[in-house]
Formats: sequence, structure tokens, C-alpha cells
Amino acid sequence: MAARDAKLTVDEMTPRQAKREHARLEAEIKQHDEAYYQKDAPSVSDAEYDALRRRYEAIEASFPDLKTLDSLSRKVGAAPARGFAKVRHAVPMLSLQNAFDPQEVQDFVDRIRRFLNLKEDEPLSFMAEPKIDGLSMSLRYEDGELVTAATRGDGAEGEDVTANIRTLKEVPAKLKGRGLPAVCEIRGEIYMTKADFLDLNRKQAEAGKQLYVNPRNTAAGSLRQIDPSVTASRPLHFFAYSWGEIAGKPAPTQSGMVEWLGKIGFEINRLSKVVRSVDEMLKFHASIGERRAKLGYDIDGVVYKLDRLDWQERLGFVSRSPRWAIAHKFAAERATTVLRDIEIQVGRTGALTPVAKLEPVTVGGVVVQNASLHNEDYIKGIGNDGNPIRGGNDIRIGDTVTIQRAGDVIPQIVDVVLEKRPKSAKPYPFPDKCPACGSHAVRGEDEAVRRCTGGLVCPAQQVERLRHFVSRGAFDIEGLGEKQVQAFFGEGLIMSPADIFTLRARDARSAKKLADREGYGETSVRNLFDAIDARRSISLDRAIYGLGIRHIGETNARLLARHYGTMEALQQAAGAVVPPSGEKGDKGNDAWQELNATDGVGSVVAEAVVEFFKEPRNIEALGALLKEIEIQPMEAVKNDTPVAGKTVVFTGALEKMTRDEAKAMAERLGAKVAGSVSKKTDYLVAGPGAGSKLAEAKKHGVQTLTEDEWFDLVGAR
Ligand code: IVH
Repeated sequence: MAARDAKLTVDEMTPRQAKREHARLEAEIKQHDEAYYQKDAPSVSDAEYDALRRRYEAIEASFPDLKTLDSLSRKVGAAPARGFAKVRHAVPMLSLQNAFDPQEVQDFVDRIRRFLNLKEDEPLSFMAEPKIDGLSMSLRYEDGELVTAATRGDGAEGEDVTANIRTLKEVPAKLKGRGLPAVCEIRGEIYMTKADFLDLNRKQAEAGKQLYVNPRNTAAGSLRQIDPSVTASRPLHFFAYSWGEIAGKPAPTQSGMVEWLGKIGFEINRLSKVVRSVDEMLKFHASIGERRAKLGYDIDGVVYKLDRLDWQERLGFVSRSPRWAIAHKFAAERATTVLRDIEIQVGRTGALTPVAKLEPVTVGGVVVQNASLHNEDYIKGIGNDGNPIRGGNDIRIGDTVTIQRAGDVIPQIVDVVLEKRPKSAKPYPFPDKCPACGSHAVRGEDEAVRRCTGGLVCPAQQVERLRHFVSRGAFDIEGLGEKQVQAFFGEGLIMSPADIFTLRARDARSAKKLADREGYGETSVRNLFDAIDARRSISLDRAIYGLGIRHIGETNARLLARHYGTMEALQQAAGAVVPPSGEKGDKGNDAWQELNATDGVGSVVAEAVVEFFKEPRNIEALGALLKEIEIQPMEAVKNDTPVAGKTVVFTGALEKMTRDEAKAMAERLGAKVAGSVSKKTDYLVAGPGAGSKLAEAKKHGVQTLTEDEWFDLVGAR
């Protein structure tokens, strides 16, 4: 259904469809935000991101009910990453609306005139500045001294990176001049020069380390170092262009303020200039665009800001951006070349991703040989929303294609030059077998991605699967964490889950003992073996969860375990399933319906289970594992307790039990544990620091309990 929603235009949507599509977009945008802001590794091009965001906002414009207080349209970016203290910005750090063509710039100026009710001939000037592709920073000075430096974070709250920022030469510890405002927050952009970025990457390559993606993400990563001496070793720069809280403004205009920023000790961008008409704005955009390649740092457009601050104030803000400023982005850089081949890469989670192998070509000063082809549909000429892209033309090996480099994300193929298509070129048959292991690869009904089903045997996924297998909610083997699994895998000692349990016996027979290795000794090896043996007896839900079947998290694993009772029963049921053929009236066989009817298991989960057990190699790996371990039956669930059948949500910092414990206890007593509060919630158990869920519970009239009240309720005291 969600796939169908994605194909609709906003006008065509019913309120229900709009709600679903809004939620789907929200989840997708959040993922991209996290990748961008917290992992410094963008997962889509800026253009795609902008399109998602626009669709999200268009839905809210048509269905205002969906614009709740926590809508993404009211926030900027992602919440702060963990590891740094949080700083609440005295004045929120906002984002900018984008304009992509001259008309949108004209519209921006017209809107301002209308809003301020200015006469046609009333002069209007703007400060035009390069838009630096870095990360914004807020520097708080009290009595001229730097006290805190914070990243933007979600706009309201950022990370405290003061210690790291103090290592930057271009951030003065003390402001220059007299009569400074008692408090002033200076804002601007941290960036890394292209030359420094290339230099750093050269060093990474020499040291055999992973290369950084682009200067922006490298700058962000450099700043997020826990150890300031690492930041100090990375050449970061700062341009000041704005301010937050300030006790009295030293100038009445944007340009005057920037000049002042230069005087009190900051670098300001000398290319910035005051412009007085749309024509001049566009000329500035064009001239900066021409100089772009030769600038020492990356820029991705220009920013126009209304010069008069009193007018800025009158214009104010719309949700997350000011009405008085706009970013005029540069068009992405393009070139044509020949597609030599399509390579399928298998990701750690089994996703099959097509990559274009190109005749090398220079785009915007960078030699490009690979480009992203996203997924199967993209090659066929179908977009994410189900609508045709490139006029519905597919991409074939041998085709001449147009590639685009937007910002610094992976280049994309944006078009096909049909006139140049060789006669011999055939539609590309997307593989239905995993190129890494030969297992069958499937694509869920609502999914764009095809995935390998050979989770336990696929070399591309094995390390990830093993890591999952030993993780906390699964086998949780002490002394066998991610690092050790990686090392043992690298040496061929542990290739599949069963190998973990045969390690001791194999070590006993081997001439090269584990205990003789560096970093190990008799005791640590014995401890490791003992920890492994301790897990030979394991509960069914942990064992199911450990298999790493797609969509089977701890909760679903528990549901399946409770329902089927043994691994064999689950396997047998999955093997007996005949899912619905898609023909009207066909509901699939009994086994399918039973699997589907398992409380909380939907068809997506059921399908994943069936696919997993359909792959003979998984069965083989599981068989080998079952020879080594003993699965304990599930603890019976009580259904005569005060909370049986009720839905409970835990929130805040629980003090008397861990979250896992609380969950297990509630479930043992027959309650359902949910992650979020809704009308259906019966109890919210709130520890200290409970936030939005508490408010949500009040809204729905859900009964709220302290931990002690919960214990009283269930009679556990
Ligand atoms: S002004 C309220 N000026 O672009 C206005 N932003 O897309 C705040 N940026 O978060 C921003 N160069 O990180 C402004 N000359 C410039 C800029 C600039 C780069 C970044 C900044 C901002 C983002 C918005």
C-alpha cells in the first residue's frame, strides 16, 4: 500500500493515504538526516533530499492536521549525536529556503515587497554571499570571551564542541575592540579547504586507511572528535556571516554587521557584496558560479539576505527558515560518457546495489568512473515515487549517459542519450541471484531494493550477521564482540554461527593454539570458551533473533517463539507456506495464514521468514548450529494478571529495572509493550526525565504510573 501512496500526487490523496505517505516520508527523511548530520555520510543527493522534503511539506500544506508540533518541517537537521553535551541555542539556528532558478529568486523578492507593502520604486538591497558548503557553528562570547561553541544540531539544540573549536586559529578566544556587546553569539560556517582535504586523503591512502568522502563531511568528522588534539591536527577554517543572541546590534544592516564581524577579529567572505535588483542578484550568482572551481573551498550556491535589519525583523520566519533570506543553489555539474558495465555490489545487509562503470570523464574538475544507479527500477526508468524518470527510458550497457555531480555526493546517471544507443544494447536483466553467494535475491512488494536471502552464508553479509548473532539481544557471548568476530572471520576461524561453538574442539586439535596468539593467553582463551559454552543453552526467542532474518527484531522474534514453541516447528511452518498468488480471493494456504495470524506478525514479516527458510544454504547453516546448541522452551505467559492483554509503554530513565527487564516482566505478565503512546495505550510507566511521551499520554488520557506504582499494580512488591 505504501508503494502505491508514493505514486500519488498530493492532490490525489485521501486523508488516510496522505497520513501514510507523510509518515513514510518522515521516516525516510529522518534516516537521511541522521546519515548526513550524525554519520557525516550523505545517503542521497541534495536534489533527491530536497524533493522528499518538498513533498512532505506539500502534504502538510494540503492536510494541515499532519503538521503536528514535532513535524520535521518545524525542525532543522538531526538531533545532536551522543558523546557531546547538549547546548540549547538562545536563538534557534535556522535553515534557508532554496531557489533553483531565476524565477524563484524573482518570486522571493516579490514576496518581500508584498509582505512589507513596499512601493514598486522603493529601493531594496540585499547582501549577496557565497554559500559555503561546511557546517554551521554558533560561538557564544560573554564580555568578549569565547564561552561555548555549538553545532546546529536540530536547530534548537546542538552539541557542545567548545574544546575542539578552541583549537581553530580563525576563531578568536577574545574579541577585538571596545564597546563590545556583553553577550554575543557569532554564527558562521566551519569548512575545510579543498587542498587540505586532498592532502589529508593522500595521507589516509598512504597509511592504507579509508578515504574521506568530501571536505564538508571531513570537517564535520574532524570537529566531532572526542580528543581535541585530533581536531587541532585537522586544518579547519571559519567564516562569520550571522549572529544569534546579541545585546544591542552594532549596525542597522546585514552588510554593516558583517563588516563589524571582520573588525572584531573574524574572517569574513570578501566576495560578498550588496546588490540592488534581481538582475544584480543573478549576475552575482553567475559570476560566483564561474569562479567556483577556482575557489579554495566548496560552495554550493549563493545566499541573498535583505540588507535592512528592521525589515528582516518585520518579515520574521516561516517554520524553519527566515522570509528575508534565500539560498540560490548552483545547478549540478554534468557531462556525458559511455556506460561500460553495471556491477552489482552486495551491502552488509544484503542489499543489491547497481553501480555504473563508466568511461572516465571529468565533471566539475573531478574524474568520475563510477556512478550510482540506485536500484532496479531506476535502471528501468521508474523513479522512487513509481513515476517515470528520464521520460521512462531504461539504461543499457553501451549507452551514452549524462552524469551529474551535485555537491559532493556520489555522481548519478541522470539521462540517456537515445540517439547514441548501439543497436546491440539490450535491457539490463537485474540479477535474481546474489553475485556474492548465489543465494536467491528477492524484492518485497513495497521495496525498491532487492536483497540476498543467504544471510548466514553470504560473504558480503557474514561479518555483519555474525556480529548480530553475538550481539546483546541475541547470543550475547562475553568476550566475543564485533572486533573479535571480525578478526576470527578474517582468519577463517569463524565463518558461520556453528563455527563459534566448534572453536574449542578445533583449537584442541590445531597446532596453532589461540592461547599462543598475541593479546591472548591461557586464561582469556579459557574464559572465551567458557562464555561460548554458557550459551549452548539458549532461549528460543534469542536464537530466532540471532538468525538475523530481515524484519525480525527482538519483539517479533519473541512473538514467533511464543507462537511456534520450537525452532523446528517454525522452520516446518515456514517451509509449508504457500503465500497468496495475488489472484483475487486467494488468501494463501493455512500455514501462511497461521504465520500471518501470529499476534503482531504482518505479511512483510511473514514473507521475510518464508524467504529465509526457503534458502537451502540457510537451512544447512542452521542445521549445523542446532547440532551445537540446545534451545530452551519459552517461559509461559500468564494471562490472569492485572495487566494481561493491556498495552504498556515505558519511558524516562527507569531506576529499579533496566528497560529490557521491564519489557520482559510486562510481557511475562501477558502485557504488550509498545514503543510509543497512542489511544490504545493503557499504562505509561514513566521514570525521571520522561518527555514527549508523558505529554502524549496526558493528551490521550492514558494512565501514568511511577515505577513503584507499576510494581504495586502487578503485585511485585
Ligand atoms: S545564513 C538564518 N549565510 O547554509 C540564516 N548560511 O542552508 C542562517 N550557509 O545552516 C544562515 N553559507 O550552514 C547563511 N553565507 C551564508 C552561508 C550559510 C553557508 C549554510 C548554513 C545554513 C545553511 C542553510
